[in-house]
Amino acid sequence: MHSIKFLHQDIHDQDSLQGMVSELMSQMGLDEKIGQMSQLCGGGGWVPDHLAAAIRSGQVGSVLNEVDLDTVNELQRIAVEESRLGIPLLNGRDVIHGFKTILPIPLGQAASWDPVIVSEGARISAVEAASSGVNWTFAPMIDITRDPRWGRIAESLGEDPYLCGVLGVAMTKGFQGTDLAENGSIAACAKHFAGYGTAEGGRDYNTANIPENEMRNVHLRPFKDLVDANVATFMSAFCDLNGVPASGNSWLMDQVLRQEWGYEGFVVSDWESIIEMSVHGFTGDDEEAALEAVNAGIDMEMASSTYRDHLENLVAEGKVDLEHIDRMVVRILTLKFKLGLFRDPYTDIENFPDLLNEAHLQIAKEAATKSCVLLKNDNKTLPLSISGLDSVAVIGPLADDGYEQLGTWVFDGEAEHSITIKNAIESLVGSNVTVNYSRGLDGTRCKHHEGFGHAIDAAYQSDAIVLVLGEESFMSGEAHSRANIDLPGHQEALIHALAETGKPITLVIMAGRPLTLENIVDKVDSILYAWHPGTMGGPAIADLLFGLESPSGKLPVTFPKMVGQVPIYYSHKNTGRPPSAESCIQMDDVPARAAQTSLGMASFHLDAGYTPLYPFGHGLSYGEFHYVKITTSKSNISLGQSIDIAVDLINTGERQAEEVVQLYVRDLVGNVTRPVKELKGFRRVKLNPGQRERVSFSIHTDDLAFYNRDMKLVTEPGQFHAWIGGNSDAPLWAEFEVHE
Ligand code: NOJ
Repeated sequence: MHSIKFLHQDIHDQDSLQGMVSELMSQMGLDEKIGQMSQLCGGGGWVPDHLAAAIRSGQVGSVLNEVDLDTVNELQRIAVEESRLGIPLLNGRDVIHGFKTILPIPLGQAASWDPVIVSEGARISAVEAASSGVNWTFAPMIDITRDPRWGRIAESLGEDPYLCGVLGVAMTKGFQGTDLAENGSIAACAKHFAGYGTAEGGRDYNTANIPENEMRNVHLRPFKDLVDANVATFMSAFCDLNGVPASGNSWLMDQVLRQEWGYEGFVVSDWESIIEMSVHGFTGDDEEAALEAVNAGIDMEMASSTYRDHLENLVAEGKVDLEHIDRMVVRILTLKFKLGLFRDPYTDIENFPDLLNEAHLQIAKEAATKSCVLLKNDNKTLPLSISGLDSVAVIGPLADDGYEQLGTWVFDGEAEHSITIKNAIESLVGSNVTVNYSRGLDGTRCKHHEGFGHAIDAAYQSDAIVLVLGEESFMSGEAHSRANIDLPGHQEALIHALAETGKPITLVIMAGRPLTLENIVDKVDSILYAWHPGTMGGPAIADLLFGLESPSGKLPVTFPKMVGQVPIYYSHKNTGRPPSAESCIQMDDVPARAAQTSLGMASFHLDAGYTPLYPFGHGLSYGEFHYVKITTSKSNISLGQSIDIAVDLINTGERQAEEVVQLYVRDLVGNVTRPVKELKGFRRVKLNPGQRERVSFSIHTDDLAFYNRDMKLVTEPGQFHAWIGGNSDAPLWAEFEVHE
């Protein structure tokens, strides 16, 4: 039919890339350009006639949600052989935490504080997805959220912009590899730009109101990190940000992203978020929505068709500049060239390793192992000893549920590949330990006690209890927010009933968010927080429970005692009335008719105090880590210099273990008030029993910069405090000064 002019050309350098894009652009009509800016949904295993026709007529630049390889190849064939210019398609998919081999949810991966395993996890996800013809993932999600009610906290990398930036970059590099054209590399997408993580009340899609200074100092930071890491694409958020929906927000898309950051990749809208601007009450109809979106800087429209329906007219009426459209199309075509799609748009399964192969499963297992956080471990209940136990009760609705352990956003993963905790414990302990299994409750939301008797019998027959509770997959993720974040159903009642047996209880929690555990934390001996750990959750958790591995995860998000404390996060401001243990009076201790000014006059809750249940960065291990001798290499530095801050880390425990050493800094006085602590560095350190190691971090004065009142990024001279320790409450500190 038509000649596929560009199919066999290779990109040798930036100039030839630009040359090829320009040559192609010169042949394109406006309708074909607008086609490139349109993304349509695939049929899910077949080629619907309307889609084939639209591709054939050059009206489609990208499809999403098609992972049947023959269908993807057929769509590409129609695009390259039957459309006038033969431009191949981008094929997008939400590969959020794995494709077939499912890794822990992103929040769980963030608990690993390990950019290496996060990157490796993204790589295997990319390879598996690419083998199904996917060349673009809508990940990583780098929204900062400090609200565990929000279901999408599960997809986030936690509450801290620094940790989120480091891990978001690691994920991006894993997806994109060193060369997008390499087999197994797929384009990544920084989403959701921006502010979506502050949805009011933690209710998904809700309004975001964020002052510009906080926007720049917190929410935009990880996005800038991903721009610097060459993330291929951005996605606009669903939300209304300070009155202007993100998909029509030219401050975000144009001023910040293009003008200030010089971003050269392209921006895709979120699903129908352009037409939803009329639902927000920002635009009157689809045409106006298309106008606002395109002029703000949304290069590609996902799912809806306002661009296809209205852009030609808007250009003809002079409301949209043709050169503006050209710049957008150039960005989209550039990515297609970089991905090597013009060289070879087809996917040959023979070029890829098997899905769910042993190497991939091992990476998923390592990620799950490193993601689990040991919240408490009274009397060294863990690790359990295979030789020291005759029997163990494995109880709970999530102990043997291959589906629920996968978590949210698992379009392609399958429960049949999961290894559950029950199965993994049984194969680990073999015939040495009897496993007495009982579900206890039909499901996590179950509100009757019919299974309690069986569970209690199993507990009495056993030396120790492993109780696996939490949330089902659907309770977190998009549109799945909760107002009450306690353990659902009668799970707390089950804990109370089992506590009566007097047997040592290890509570394993699988959940998509921090749950409020205050009601039951004292009823169990140890808690291992496993998030939704993915395909290999069972073996990872079994190894941790029985001491083959030591827990090393740390919380990427603060755990409130009760939901009314939300938002509660480590990097808060000091306020003019900071609370202290002395000023914080407990409501139950207040005498009747207490005078109005007798209750501390500080920033705390009478019924919850001011501290969380577990702080950001918290996580125990089977080693015993102590921090001593914090020093700074200098007492003061000039702007432009670096300082080393170091500490001795000692493992006084009896076994080898890995610790995530964390550095926090406070800028005491600022032109705008500064947080009481900010994470500035972290490192995993593995020590043998008795081993001592000096751990040092180098901080440049640029690392201390923040956006001031004038929205300028500055490091201000002055006093700084630095802490190094195993969580954000670390007591060991030093100080230094920065001068001009
Ligand atoms: C809506 C979600 O907000 C976004 O994260 C996702 O990538 C798209 N749908 C595509 O599925």
